[in-house]
Amino acid sequence: MAEKKIIAVVGATGAQGGGLVRAILKDGSSGLTARALTRDVNSDKAKELGSLGAEVVAADVYDVESLKRSFQGAYGAFCVTFFWAHFSPEKELAGATAMARAAKHAGVEHVIWSTLEDTRKWVPLSDNRMPTLIGKYKVLHFDSKGEADRVFTELGLPATFLLTSFYWTGGSPETRTVSRLSSATLGPGDLSNGQGSILE
Ligand SMILES: NC(=O)c1ccc[n+]([C@@H]2O[C@H](COP(=O)([O-])OP(=O)(O)OC[C@H]3O[C@@H](n4cnc5c(N)ncnc54)[C@H](OP(=O)(O)O)[C@@H]3O)[C@@H](O)[C@H]2O)c1
Repeated sequence: MAEKKIIAVVGATGAQGGGLVRAILKDGSSGLTARALTRDVNSDKAKELGSLGAEVVAADVYDVESLKRSFQGAYGAFCVTFFWAHFSPEKELAGATAMARAAKHAGVEHVIWSTLEDTRKWVPLSDNRMPTLIGKYKVLHFDSKGEADRVFTELGLPATFLLTSFYWTGGSPETRTVSRLSSATLGPGDLSNGQGSILE
């Protein structure tokens, strides 16, 4: 039987990465297997992924050497950043850059970069209808991800840019409550009243 291709998954104990790891492990016919990256291989979530069949390895997105080790031998890498852990666009860029460099170093054949639009393409900094934040952003966690697309492109990585928009399990406990209420009453995909307010 052919050896399974390894997909190294950043954020494996989280929403996006966790969903991917479980989907890979559930599909026995895909020819793929999951390597779960976590900062703590001994956490309950990490151990659970191990018990499902994932290879669990230690890595931090701000430690490029740990990423290089974790991506080594992998066919693919799923890359995601963690804006809500620090609220810093600079850290988003640093993490994305480290993952892109590690993927290049490891010779990964397919990178999925979980990104969002750089809103400044549509609302330039000169447009005062939206405030400019920290001197150079309109929407911090969108613009920094969109800006990081360039790093993957410039390194010549075979990359797919995944734009996840909004997912129901994401965000804070408060937005999760709003999501649950809204999806129960409206169905997915119709959270806004068209004027920027969240319907409850
Ligand atoms: N919520 C939404 O609707 C939505 C929509 C589009 C995009 N996004 C973006 O999605 C991203 C968050 O993804 P998510 O929802 O999957 O995250 P999440 O569920 O909050 O999980 C984050 C996971 O990342 C790991 N992590 C945190 N810091 C790390 C670091 N320095 N190095 C390595 N791993 C680290 C943690 O695992 P360990 O503790 O095991 O290391 C944690 O389990 C954000 O950048 C956000 O902007 C969210």
